[in-house]
Amino acid sequence: MDGWSPSSWSTKPIKQEVSYGDKEGLQNALVKLQRLPPLVTPHEVVNLKRSLRNVALGDAFVLQGGDCAELFDYCNQEMIEAKVKLILQMSLILIWGANKPVVRIARIAGQFAKPRSSPVETVDGVTMPAFRGDNINGFDANLASRTPDPSRLVSAYFHSAATLNYLRAALDSGLADLHSPLDWGLGHVVTPSIKEKYEKIVTRVTDSLRFMRTAVGLHDDRRIETVDIYTSHEGLMLEYEQSLTRLLKHPPGAEQQQRQDQSTTTAAETPLIQSGYYATSGHFLWIGDRTRQLSGAHVEFFRGISNPIGIKIGPTMEPSELLTLLDTVNPTREIGKVTLISRYGASKIAQYLPAHIKAVQSAGHLPVWQCDPMHGNTRATPSGVKTRHFTDILSELKQALEIHRAHGSFMGGMHLELTGEAVTECVGGAAGLTEDGLSERYETFCDPRLNEKQALELAFVVAGFYRDEMEERP
Ligand code: PEP
Ligand code: CO
Repeated sequence: MDGWSPSSWSTKPIKQEVSYGDKEGLQNALVKLQRLPPLVTPHEVVNLKRSLRNVALGDAFVLQGGDCAELFDYCNQEMIEAKVKLILQMSLILIWGANKPVVRIARIAGQFAKPRSSPVETVDGVTMPAFRGDNINGFDANLASRTPDPSRLVSAYFHSAATLNYLRAALDSGLADLHSPLDWGLGHVVTPSIKEKYEKIVTRVTDSLRFMRTAVGLHDDRRIETVDIYTSHEGLMLEYEQSLTRLLKHPPGAEQQQRQDQSTTTAAETPLIQSGYYATSGHFLWIGDRTRQLSGAHVEFFRGISNPIGIKIGPTMEPSELLTLLDTVNPTREIGKVTLISRYGASKIAQYLPAHIKAVQSAGHLPVWQCDPMHGNTRATPSGVKTRHFTDILSELKQALEIHRAHGSFMGGMHLELTGEAVTECVGGAAGLTEDGLSERYETFCDPRLNEKQALELAFVVAGFYRDEMEERP
């Protein structure tokens, strides 16, 4: 690729840069990261890419969700299980609703670094660097903790590795066994209507599995026992991403051999793994809304990696700029290589999304369109607490679905900030959380997240939109 290398980003202007005083410490951390094994493999990355291709073509749905800012402290059995179970439950509801396979991507095992609107903040009269995420500095409001510490990059790797290790082991041991989805537990959810709806869906799924086993004779159902969950994070810290980017080299003729293998019995199983550079810190990386400048460092890094990538787009994105960006990161127009994560806000989506869809269609790109109904709908309460209203979140999702449909496009998925914990950070939902109730369990270190109940409720409502759409079709 012309002029690209894993480090070519460093010659470009960069936004949200972290400046380390301890240069030697940074160098040591990066050398260590370069020696450590990849966290994910090109084989897995390519499997996800193939699934996202199906989403772009309208044959599958993608659910992406997790914390806004993951903390090292979240690396524990209970919290990992709660999040994974929630994503699995939501995906089950969406499979039922959209009648399509659901690709699951968690914002986990690496979602540490955060872009900030201001690099500093003043606490009790002292101005100090803002909290930039656990892989950069500490949340405690004092100068020592807020000073960027390069050894946190290595800690980020090990916390990602431990989270991923438990995630893989738990899935492999049957955490997501579709034969017993009732065991997935509804945790803190006590709303009878949600419990009842979920249990009905579960009964239907279990019935169809039984039918497949008995009537159709599907005995080899190992594939039903485990499901895939991919990992993702914002690719903000390019020093870290570069250190974990690895070149996959094939001996001459290997790709041809793979093609031959594909033409035999394993066609559906074996994706074509191309040689090239793979970011191995997670399966899916995205560029944030603040770092997507065409000539900037982040776009430069992202254009050279073989992973499926996301780009956040909002009201400040010009349609022509979007096309140049797509041509830059995906010149071969690979279907589903790019996920456009739109985040306009409920009151702005109708103004901006149609022009973005039309531009992309006219240029012949086929991305995954994913609606992020969170980041355009953040507001502050009169007392200054950051929150989001359930009705705004729903409204943006509903509008996204309708606008895509009206333009012959497909809303392929949703991108949510959520947690398996019973937090009180977003207003609304069936439990009727009010602004006054926010202080009860307001625990986020960045943006407000949907709690388990609100997330499940959202999945039901979105599933309902799809079912209504199906019923309306002639
Ligand atoms: C995020 O996803 O947490 C985020 C910072 O989003 P955006 O780049 O869209 O503001
Ligand atoms: Co966020």
